[in-house]
Amino acid sequence: MTTLAILTAAGSGTRLGRDVPKALVELGGVPMVALAARGLADSGVVDALVVTSPAGRSAEIRTAVGSLEVDVRVVDGGGTRQASVAAGLGLAGPDVDVVLVHDAARPLTSPETVRRVVAAVRDGHRAVVPGLPVTDTIKRVVPDDGAPSGAHGRPGPVAERVVDTPDRTVLRAVQTPQGFDRELLVRAHTEGASRAAAEHLAATDDAALVEALDEPVHVVVGDPEALKITTERDLALAILLLEDR
Ligand code: C5P
Repeated sequence: MTTLAILTAAGSGTRLGRDVPKALVELGGVPMVALAARGLADSGVVDALVVTSPAGRSAEIRTAVGSLEVDVRVVDGGGTRQASVAAGLGLAGPDVDVVLVHDAARPLTSPETVRRVVAAVRDGHRAVVPGLPVTDTIKRVVPDDGAPSGAHGRPGPVAERVVDTPDRTVLRAVQTPQGFDRELLVRAHTEGASRAAAEHLAATDDAALVEALDEPVHVVVGDPEALKITTERDLALAILLLEDR
């Protein structure tokens, strides 16, 4: 019984506006990818790690991750997150029965959350995601083509129209790591492979590829501190949370 974790770190992180890939941006002097890798290794339930790297940066990613208790390999990612996960999954041999997929963009994920996800998969749930209740009211929208333009033909203040308001009690904000039976995840990526080439088609998480097979995906309690770092504001908040630990 072997658990392999794929840590996605191949994104450019353009929304952070740094001149290094997001995974190499530091929090308290430690690169995000190293913090995320440490969280996985410290769980005690991960046997091996594959990190997806931006093309041409694998040596930097390898150095940033540093030495861990678990075996670490680095592979070039692809043009989308889905393609990067597929590249990592290619290194999961038949000895691997459970695969975790985690984002370097969630460096504060606790080892307890990792253990919770792996325990649920080992309990027979073949696809497991951590999820949190949604506190905002969420609206589904479409472009508001009929909206009047603003003064002098400039775009008006209204750009979208609300379609409906899903009941938020049945919504969950899902996180990583997501855990899978290896065979199921391989099948999901194989069946969904044509989506991986283009950002507008690609799955933004692995559970969506399993859902497309009509296979059940189960939810365990997520981690309120495991925020996803996308903007400078997220980074500032993560640094505060880290200092508080
Ligand atoms: O861009 P975003 O923050 O949504 O990316 C989520 C995760 O997927 C990040 O950890 C990023 O490094 C990774 N990623 C990847 N390959 C890509 C795009 C994103 O490994 N082509």
